Amino acid sequence: MGATGVLGGPRIAPRLPAHQVTTRNLGAAYPLVAEPGLGWRGVLVGHDLLGGSFVYDPFELYAQGIVSNPNMVVFGQIGRGKSAFVKTYLWRQAVFGRRAWVVDPKGEYGALAAAWGTRPIALVPGGTVRLNPLDPGPGSEDAGGLDAGGEQRADGRQVELLVSLAAACLGRSLLPRERVAVDLALTSIGCSRGVPTLPAVVDAMLEPTDEAASRIRTDGATLLEDGRDAALELRRLVHGDLRGMFDGPTTEGLDLSGPLVVLDLSALYNSAALGVLMACATAWLQATLARQASTGRAVAATQRSTGLPASTPHTIVVVDEAWAVLANLGVARWLQASWKLSRSYGVANVAVLHRLSDLQAVGAAGSEQVGLAHGLLADSETRVVYSQPPGEVHHAAELLSLSPTEADLLPQLRRGVALWKVGPRAFLVQHVLGPDEQSLVDTDAAMWTG
Ligand SMILES: Nc1ncnc2c1ncn2[C@@H]1O[C@H](COP(=O)(O)OP(=O)(O)OP(=O)(O)O)[C@@H](O)[C@H]1O
Ligand SMILES: [Mg+2]
Repeated sequence: MGATGVLGGPRIAPRLPAHQVTTRNLGAAYPLVAEPGLGWRGVLVGHDLLGGSFVYDPFELYAQGIVSNPNMVVFGQIGRGKSAFVKTYLWRQAVFGRRAWVVDPKGEYGALAAAWGTRPIALVPGGTVRLNPLDPGPGSEDAGGLDAGGEQRADGRQVELLVSLAAACLGRSLLPRERVAVDLALTSIGCSRGVPTLPAVVDAMLEPTDEAASRIRTDGATLLEDGRDAALELRRLVHGDLRGMFDGPTTEGLDLSGPLVVLDLSALYNSAALGVLMACATAWLQATLARQASTGRAVAATQRSTGLPASTPHTIVVVDEAWAVLANLGVARWLQASWKLSRSYGVANVAVLHRLSDLQAVGAAGSEQVGLAHGLLADSETRVVYSQPPGEVHHAAELLSLSPTEADLLPQLRRGVALWKVGPRAFLVQHVLGPDEQSLVDTDAAMWTG
């Protein structure tokens, strides 16, 4: 407090020296004004514009109880630097042994993959790579077997997956009789024939056995009619425009154990089929991750039992351009399941969207899609918000519980600057590119040529 003035004379503003304090101590010196940051354990993202460096790691923050889930949503208008942040974030996390899986609808993670010494898995209709979305997950109590009445039953995860795929293809939820037709087709293929494939399921739905029909007290012709629409839509993935990507056993020799796996879906980016493609790809990805997580847990248990320090590798899963597919019920359901399962798989999910209103625009008010999209936000305790148009500010402030000052900032943020909300805390962060990182993130090349 600066006092002063001469008794009886005019009060003169004192010229006190500015108080200097290191950013390490700033938070303690001004507890209600300066945010002390998220600590130093994690990757450097850039500058905290209120002072200091900004370091972030979802697994550390989860371990410290600062966030209750490791998931993140990134919002931002076109070209503000969302993907650039994600790419460098993954690249920097590699130093700590973190692995990454990326669903890449625009085909822009090739440079990152090359830097990591790997190649994206490009899914192209009629191409050379197949992923079987029915690949088994880790052994679960819900896997196929005999039910209480001694009858064969299908693997619950595979049934849910096929139902979601059929819903994604049909653009609506399945009717109860369609669901049953899917279930019975899977059951009739049985575990004895190894891992089921989509062609086998479609055949079983189009030629139902008498035994399958008798299980629901009907005849084969009725069961065929019950499942016909769903079967014909699934048939698209086998004989139609989406053939040659998900219609057989997973191609052997794919390197899925490396530090980075990129699924390049750009062949269908501008097509209405992108949602179905993403539903299949994310389904396969989830089963593969679950299997790997289960193996990792078994290895860690063995390490512990032999007195070695146990380590389970953490994985970051990115769905870039997620806004383009949230309206697809099948994809939205799979995304929600992945977000909910993140902690049990040791996975931190990242979804990239454009505007907060994307969450509202995915369906009619009160629809399941809108509920799922908002659930995604609720299950992501880190929200990174790049510039938003003025018309979005009110909506953003409401959904993200922004203060009036934070809300006013949103339309003014320049490229590379974002408002980070980590749990209840807020940061204004300038993402900084390293000298060697420009080539990993450049999506503007076409603007400078031609
Ligand atoms: N922090 C940054 N510093 C400097 N340049 C940046 C930064 N972030 C992004 N850029 C540049 O801005 C361009 C656009 O970035 P980016 O592709 O990440 O945008 P985006 O928000 O993902 O856009 P879109 O919505 O179209 O996918 C890139 O060419 C990149 O080099
Ligand atoms: Mg982008």
